[in-house]
Amino acid sequence: MDAVENATKLKFDDALAKEREIFINLMQTPECKALRHIFAAERAASKIPDVGSDVKPRAVNKVAVIGAGTMGGGISMNFLNAGIPVTILETKQEALDRGLATIRKNYESQVKRGKLKQDKYEQRVALLTPTLKYEDIADADLVIEAVFEEMGVKEQVFKKLDEVMKPGAILASNTSTLDVDKIAAFTKRPQDVVGMHFFSPANVMKLLEVVRGAKTAKDVLATVMAIAKKIRKTAVVSGVCDGFIGNRMIEQYSRQAGFLLEEGATPQQVDKAIEKFGFAMGPFRMGDLAGNDIGWAIRKRRYVEKPDMKYSKTADLLCEMGRYGQKTGAGWYDYQPGKRDAIPSKLVEEMVEKHRKDQGITPRKISDQEIVERLVYSLVNEGARIVEDGIASKASDLDMVYLTGYGFPIWRGGPMKYADQMGLFNVAESMKRFARNPNDDAKFWQPAPLLAKLVAEGKTFN
Ligand SMILES: NC(=O)c1ccc[n+]([C@@H]2O[C@H](COP(=O)([O-])OP(=O)(O)OC[C@H]3O[C@@H](n4cnc5c(N)ncnc54)[C@H](O)[C@@H]3O)[C@@H](O)[C@H]2O)c1
Repeated sequence: MDAVENATKLKFDDALAKEREIFINLMQTPECKALRHIFAAERAASKIPDVGSDVKPRAVNKVAVIGAGTMGGGISMNFLNAGIPVTILETKQEALDRGLATIRKNYESQVKRGKLKQDKYEQRVALLTPTLKYEDIADADLVIEAVFEEMGVKEQVFKKLDEVMKPGAILASNTSTLDVDKIAAFTKRPQDVVGMHFFSPANVMKLLEVVRGAKTAKDVLATVMAIAKKIRKTAVVSGVCDGFIGNRMIEQYSRQAGFLLEEGATPQQVDKAIEKFGFAMGPFRMGDLAGNDIGWAIRKRRYVEKPDMKYSKTADLLCEMGRYGQKTGAGWYDYQPGKRDAIPSKLVEEMVEKHRKDQGITPRKISDQEIVERLVYSLVNEGARIVEDGIASKASDLDMVYLTGYGFPIWRGGPMKYADQMGLFNVAESMKRFARNPNDDAKFWQPAPLLAKLVAEGKTFN
C-alpha cells in the first residue's frame, strides 16, 4: 500500500528504491517466515521418508463408502467432486435415503449460492450409487468405512469387507479414536488396511490424517497420498496412537482450558484471548460446536485407563447439566433458537464458581498472555512427544495438521513453527514456570526430552 502511495508522490526511481526497501523489510517479518515455512511444510508433508518415488501407487477408479451418516456423506462428496464414482452402502433403506438427501441438499445449496452449476450438480449426483448389498461394492478399488465408532461394528464391517472385496482393494477406516492395527487384524490382509481420518465437515475441511498401521503396505500409503491430492486434501501421515496427531494434541489444549477456568478465567475470556492470537475459534466455542459430550465420553474412558491424569471437572459438570453445546441449545454459552451467537451464561458462571469453592481454589486474575502461552505451549509439548515417539516423521507435519484442521492462524506458521520463533529456550522456561503452578499438571509441563535436547543444542523444531 505504501509503495502504491509512493508511486503518486515520488519520482519513479526513488519510488522503486523505496519499494525495494519495503520489500526487504517485509521479508524479515515473522509472518513472511511463517508463510514460507508453510509453503515448504505442505510439500514436505506429502513425502514419506521410507516411501520413495519407486513405489507405484495402485489405480483408484471406483470408490465405496460404508455408512451414509455425517462423515460418510461428506467423504463421498469429495470423490464425486473429483469425478470418481462412489457407491455408498448402508444397512437400512431409511438411513440410506437420509444420507442421500443430505448430499443432495448440500449440493443444492451450492447451486443456490451460485457456487455450482446445475449441470455439474447433475453430473456429480449421477456418479453416486446407493446400495444395501456388499456384492455391489466388491469391485471398488478403495473402500472407506465411516460407521459408528464402536469396535464391534468395525469388526463386523471389516470381516465382511475381507470376504467380499477384490484382491488389492484398499480398506480404509475413518475412525477418530480406535486402534487401526486392531481393525486391520480383523482381516486376512492387514497390509491393505489404512486409516483415512477426515475432519468434519468432510467435504470442506482440508485436512486428511493418513493413519499408517504397523502392517500397512508402502504402495497403499503412496496410493492414499496420491488420491488425497486428487480430492484436494492436505494429507499428513500419522502413526497409530490415541487421537493420532491432531486430537492427541488438542486433548492437552482442552485440559489447559479447563485449568484456566478453575483458576479464575471465564470461557469468554479464554476464547477471546486465543481468538485474538488468531485461532478461528476458542476452545469453549469449539466444544459447543463439536458437542461437549464427545470429550465427556473420552474422559470417562481416561478416568479408567489413566486414573492419575488430571482434568478439571468443570466440563463433566457442564455435561451433567445436559449442556452439550449448540445441538442442545446450551453449552459453555447460551444460544438463542436458530442462532449460533455465543452468549455468556450465568448458569455456567455459577457452576464454575461453586466448583472453585468446592476445590478450595481462590480465583486470580489471569492475563491473556498466560492464556495464550498455556494453550499454545501445551500443543507444542505434546507435539514434541509425538515427533519423539515417531508418530509423525517431522515437526512441520504437526504444523500442517493445525493449520488445515484446527484453525491455527496461518500467519503464525503452526504451533511448532511458532515455538521456534519464540525461541525454544524461552518456551521451555515458560513450561517450567507452569509446572510450579499447583493447580496445573506439573508432570505434563516437564519439557519433552526432544524439546530439552533442542534447547541444549541451540536448535529448532524445523
Ligand atoms: N463426526 C465427526 O466429526 C467425525 C470426524 C472424524 C471421524 N469421525 C468418525 O467417522 C465415523 C462415522 O461418524 P459419523 O459422525 O458420520 O456417525 P453417524 O452416526 O453420523 O453415521 C454413521 C452411519 O453409519 C451407519 N452404520 C452403522 N452401522 C453400519 C454398518 N454395519 N454398515 C453400514 N452402515 C452402518 C449408520 O446407519 C449411520 O448412518 C466414526 O468412526 C467417527 O469416529 C467422525
